[in-house]
Amino acid sequence: MTKQPKQAKKSKKHEPYGKLSELFPGVYTINGELYTKSLVPGRRVYGEKLIHMNREEYRRWDPFRSKLAAAIKKGLKTFPFKRGSEVLYLGASAGTTISHLSDICIEGTIFGVEISPYMMEKLLKLAKERENIVPVLADARKPQDYADVGEVDILYQDVSQPDQPRILKINAERFLKRGGDAFLALKAHSIDVTKEKEELIDSVKEELEELFDIKQVIDIAPFDEEHYFLHMKRRA
Ligand SMILES: C[S@@+](CC[C@H](N)C(=O)[O-])C[C@H]1O[C@@H](n2cnc3c(N)ncnc32)[C@H](O)[C@@H]1O
Repeated sequence: MTKQPKQAKKSKKHEPYGKLSELFPGVYTINGELYTKSLVPGRRVYGEKLIHMNREEYRRWDPFRSKLAAAIKKGLKTFPFKRGSEVLYLGASAGTTISHLSDICIEGTIFGVEISPYMMEKLLKLAKERENIVPVLADARKPQDYADVGEVDILYQDVSQPDQPRILKINAERFLKRGGDAFLALKAHSIDVTKEKEELIDSVKEELEELFDIKQVIDIAPFDEEHYFLHMKRRA
């Protein structure tokens, strides 16, 4: 029997990552994908990919799971979230998007308002590991119930309710500083199924312009086919 030559051992190579660049403060891109630097290394929040570079851990920010990530991918021009930002987030749910804001606003606070006790349980678990998240079990239609929140730099709303513009306005009037940024993930169908999308956006814009200057309206398809994403500034 002829002796087979020994096969060379396959060398174990680490997965090659592309260049890391900072798109906005605290938001990174690697191989065209979005990442935030993890505040709690080793922990996944929603099954996201973790990668290690320069002795840091980065969590992939999935635009199919987070409308803010989708808006960034679709060309959001202004990203005001900073290390020390105070944020009021309406429709916190289990904290998918909030977890990334928590990676970014490491010296600030994210007040997460959520109406569902089931979702709140998950958010409470997340807040135990991340001190900059403050969960608030409340109805975003009743800002008087969480008046302690005080003034914030940024208001974010994703509640998928028919009266979304009104909810944003009453919260902005109470909490958002003048000149502060507001973001709205607008669910077209939850407002009016009978109106064409364009017509609907026009009527929502008219309602919001009473309080805000509208800076950008983004169609976040294909990441989310049902929502538009609006960036506004409260008039000074
Ligand atoms: C589409 S989910 C939000 C997803 C979340 N923004 C994220 O990206 O991780 C909408 C959430 O709004 C909550 N919600 C609906 N109406 C609300 C209200 N009136 N006040 C507070 N939360 C509300 C729902 O329970 C749900 O968890």
